[in-house]
Amino acid sequence: MTSKVQEIPTKPFDGQKPGTSGLRKRVKVFQQEHYTENFVQAIFDSIAVEGSTLVIGGDGRYFSPETVQTILKIGSANNVSRFIIGKDSILSTPAASNVIRKYKATGGILLTASHNPGGPDADFGIKYNVSNGGPAPENVTNQIYEKTKTIKSYKVLDAPPVDLSKIGEFTYGPTKVSIIDSVADYITLLESIFDFSLIKKFLDEHQSDFRVLFDGLHGVTGPYARALLVENFGLPESSIQNCVPSPNFGGGHPDPNLTYAHSLVEVVEKENIAFGAASDGDGDRNMIYGKGAFVTPSDSVAIIAHWAETIPYFKKGGVKGLARSMPTSKAIDLVAKKKGLEVFEVPTGWKFFGNLMDAGRLSICGEESFGTGSDHIREKDGIWAVVAWLNILAAANQNSPNKLIGINDLLNEFYSIYGRSFFSRYDYEEVPSDGANALVAHLNEALKSGSLNDTVHTSASTSTKYTVSGLYDFEYKDPIDHSVSKNQGQVITFSDGSRVVFRLSGTGSQGATVRMYVERYLGPDAGPAALSEPAAEGLKSLIEVALEISKLKEFLGRDEPTVIT
Ligand code: G6P
Ligand code: ZN
Repeated sequence: MTSKVQEIPTKPFDGQKPGTSGLRKRVKVFQQEHYTENFVQAIFDSIAVEGSTLVIGGDGRYFSPETVQTILKIGSANNVSRFIIGKDSILSTPAASNVIRKYKATGGILLTASHNPGGPDADFGIKYNVSNGGPAPENVTNQIYEKTKTIKSYKVLDAPPVDLSKIGEFTYGPTKVSIIDSVADYITLLESIFDFSLIKKFLDEHQSDFRVLFDGLHGVTGPYARALLVENFGLPESSIQNCVPSPNFGGGHPDPNLTYAHSLVEVVEKENIAFGAASDGDGDRNMIYGKGAFVTPSDSVAIIAHWAETIPYFKKGGVKGLARSMPTSKAIDLVAKKKGLEVFEVPTGWKFFGNLMDAGRLSICGEESFGTGSDHIREKDGIWAVVAWLNILAAANQNSPNKLIGINDLLNEFYSIYGRSFFSRYDYEEVPSDGANALVAHLNEALKSGSLNDTVHTSASTSTKYTVSGLYDFEYKDPIDHSVSKNQGQVITFSDGSRVVFRLSGTGSQGATVRMYVERYLGPDAGPAALSEPAAEGLKSLIEVALEISKLKEFLGRDEPTVIT
């Protein structure tokens, strides 16, 4: 193909600063003339593009096919040597991380806004991942941002669009393009990690009393779940729902939590399904939810760590260390202590785990934001977490021929050994930025003046008293590259070990989103009744006190949160 390269003049756009997970904006913003092109050129200006191999994937949301063509044109004009693209521009975020690692690519461009809704009036996103398969660290995203501020032109290859629906190899200007099956490499990876035959045997034997339901929420995981659950484990078609990816996620909000995954919750409850699970738009988040059994993500990762030896990957390679993001409950810390493992507390954002994994110090980690994963890739992995739970349940049931062990049994056993960290998160979405900033300033003021220290607060409904024992702004120094991340959330601690965290979301696409995280620990001696209370009950008094201290309702002008998890 003889093709010409054109240089198109442009002007910088404000606000092309990648957040926690790339650049996320409304589709209409990306559709402005030159907007997407500028950002894509800025990526190529920030990496060693000459001779590079880049993976392109994403969750298939609205505006993805057009953007793949944009990336191809600009990438080829900038001398990318090879593009590896998921068929129909589909690669879940974990699958893309795997492909980057497996084919030793320079990096990858992921077209996703994760769990945010899709469609012409909703969100789009572009995220750059580096060669370890993980999200680009801040020095790279800052460089991309700097480039967007001074860009004067971008280069494009003048060539017709590429057919993304045909698996195969071809040349495109100076670039080799491979369109690959979106699912196969990922299933091969999971097969090397888990005990597929143990899981299959367990599911076969319990077709009637251990039914499984996976909800893809119309996101990217549908084809992966089908390949795994139906084709590999032999489960019926009825074990998956909403598993055909749609560019607007069926008009829904593809976020696996109790609010947005109600399609799963309803069917699980109505049909007494023992094991339900859902994943988000791009497949990196997960929720585990069986009949009457919700697993909070903080408990999920701790339980996986507790049972790690039942998973062949960890049995063989050992567990090197554990980690969680700061707002995530400390349940996993207790497992680390018992097993004599290192445990790390990092800021919110999966990218912070990557250095620890690359340095061989971290195997299993998780975040309260429905993220669970391990060092098999450098992204959190929704389907991995689902299979981890199936593997653990299959192993637990091997030694229990007469009684079926379900999700609740694993939770209760865990609490009886370690105690329970009651945990909940209140989200106040799309509030005015001024109010959110005033809330942060109010807490900063208390931090500086010490005005809250040792103050006693009484819950109006239960009369429980809480004494503030400290207030700090979380800061992280990466133990591997020594980079420092400041202002990662304000933490109020109480004398009974409880804590409340306030943090501004880094993933919203407009306004500000305030998150309040509450955690209260009860030791194993509290007994089964207290330990198995609904989280809302166990946390009621602490939540009242947290709202009072922060004056949150006053600052945000909202009585109730948008989402409670
Ligand atoms: C994305 C990241 C997660 C992170 C989450 C936080 O999902 O991949 O690692 O925990 O965003 O989002 P937030 O809105 O709280 O900044
Ligand atoms: Zn996601």
